[in-house]
Amino acid sequence: PEKIKLRKGADDQERGTRVKVFGRVHRERKQKDVVFITLRDGYGFMQCVLTGQLIKTYDILTLARETSIELYGELYEVPPGAHAPENRELHVDYFVIHEGWKAAGGDEAITNRISKDTDHSILMDMRHLTLRGDVASSVLFVRDAVEFAFHQTYRETKLRKVSPPALVQTQVEGGATLFKFDYYGQDAFLTQSSQLYLETCLPSMGDVYCIEKSFRAEKSLTRRHLSEYTHVEAELDFITFSDLLDHLEHVMCRVLEITLADPIIAGYIKELNPEFKMPERPFKRMKYTDAIEWLNEHDILNEEGKPHAFGDDIAEAAERKMTDIINRPIFLTHFPVEIKAFYMPKDKDDSRLTESVDCLMPGVGEIVGGSMRIYKYDELMAAFKREGLDPAPYYWYTDQRKYGSSPHGGYGLGLERFLAWLCKQHTVRDCCLYPRYMGRCTP
Ligand code: 4AD
Ligand code: MG
Repeated sequence: PEKIKLRKGADDQERGTRVKVFGRVHRERKQKDVVFITLRDGYGFMQCVLTGQLIKTYDILTLARETSIELYGELYEVPPGAHAPENRELHVDYFVIHEGWKAAGGDEAITNRISKDTDHSILMDMRHLTLRGDVASSVLFVRDAVEFAFHQTYRETKLRKVSPPALVQTQVEGGATLFKFDYYGQDAFLTQSSQLYLETCLPSMGDVYCIEKSFRAEKSLTRRHLSEYTHVEAELDFITFSDLLDHLEHVMCRVLEITLADPIIAGYIKELNPEFKMPERPFKRMKYTDAIEWLNEHDILNEEGKPHAFGDDIAEAAERKMTDIINRPIFLTHFPVEIKAFYMPKDKDDSRLTESVDCLMPGVGEIVGGSMRIYKYDELMAAFKREGLDPAPYYWYTDQRKYGSSPHGGYGLGLERFLAWLCKQHTVRDCCLYPRYMGRCTP
């Protein structure tokens, strides 16, 4: 017989034929004359039905969840009411559990150790096993699809993919979150963002993007901060600030469209986030100064417990309250110079402000940070000075402003935050394979 994968949503040509399947015992139900096994292989699930002599065997009498098994039998269509995944059933006539394939069972069974109420840090220690669960694997399937959709969207919009270095000697987003290490006797850092490198690619390759890891030595535990995260970054040449916002909105919506066009992935999203709706376009656009006013009108206080004043950072809690009330994506723009990065140019109409944008999503808050970039040499040097940064290690960045500079801008999107929003997960930790955050570097 042919070996088949348990493809979800497949129109089974295999029905009515004898097939061979491999997988793990996801669930098993033993009755007097029949044993039902729900088999899982990472592509889907299949109900396998064992009867007669087969269920009298030692292997089936002692069968534990997660055991690997090779099964043979004929595939039958069953009515929707029969609770069989994909309305199909394998009538098993032969099976093998090879040496080494058995799961421990008993107290060692992962399902005995893990329940809904299990402490999060235990779940994280057991991440290599909890990955096998329905929610964890669904989120990872969606993640795979979303990452692919970003690549497709950037292809469609004519951006080229590059792969900047992760080991660097310059900072992008401030010294406080730099991971420093010894690089052959010199100080070096894990990159916080590939932005500066992407900027150097514009004259060579036109518009570019990358999907790489970024690293932040975040010294607090929040549900949206990781020490290592996947950063989707793009940089566009000869644009205006308004072009940047339009592009960003297009990319985010197109990625959702591509992701949801796959009925299997759409099914996972529906299960994880039943209320999900495509965001309304255009996204709400709100200036920082209006946000400050809005927060005060809604009695949402700053971190010191006082009303918000111009120049205040909008902290995570306030930001989330705002997005939850407004309940749609927001482009928050024109932040004050003091609270934003050195490379951001001033707004032409108000020199207290920058041409910057954060995209905020309900339930998560900021998922994208972007801006235009200072492209005039003298202005950039003044910004280094204002920030107290030594421009020397940035010679390759400042040189860009000497050899044919151009108005350009870009952004970085946190993939795990995007997924936390799309899959309605409480924390970004559940949106990556093996999360890294303060105090955790294992498994
Ligand atoms: O706002 P950030 O710091 O902006 C930059 O790094 C720019 N240089 C990007 C660019 O313009 N190319 O980070 C961008 C996004 C945030 O909006 C957030 O989604 C994500 O990266 N992010 C994190 N995600 C998880 N854990 C962390 N510690 C994160 N820090 C930032
Ligand atoms: Mg930011």
